Amino acid sequence: MNKYTISTVLFCTLSIMACVSSKSKITHDFPAAMAPDVREGYVKQWEKGKILYELNCAKCHTTTLNGRTIVPDFTESQLVGYTLRVTNQKHEAALTDESVSTEELGLIMTFLTYKKKNNVK
Ligand code: HEC
Repeated sequence: MNKYTISTVLFCTLSIMACVSSKSKITHDFPAAMAPDVREGYVKQWEKGKILYELNCAKCHTTTLNGRTIVPDFTESQLVGYTLRVTNQKHEAALTDESVSTEELGLIMTFLTYKKKNNVK
């Protein structure tokens, strides 16, 4: 292999990796009017909520579309925190007090409320 081939292969690999990771990246979207120090606190909670969502909710709710990771755009009225525990039978079984605490549900709500909308159903 000459230098040209090696650099071409490297370039293609890196491009594909960059593309795949950017497609799967879930980002936040806080209101522009939010004060920077308030926002800083929210970002921390949001990051925690994201991890908790991955652990407790993603297996039933996250889908992929053309390689893109889709976390549903739940509406504000659907994001009702602890009452989610009893909204349906699957939740009653999966979202017990032992599996996810009320505080953790709150962080998950922060994550879902302020994640950037993907606008796909
Ligand atoms: C065992 C599978 C399962 C798990 C785990 C799960 N859900 Fe659900 N969830 C469902 C099903 C099934 C529905 C009803 C059908 C639908 O809307 O997809 C639902 C509905 C919902 C809704 C809509 C409720 C409404 O009012 O219409 C929200 C919001 C939601 N889930 C959030 C969550 C969150 C947050 C978690 C994690 C803390 C979670 N779910 C974990 C299966 C699950």
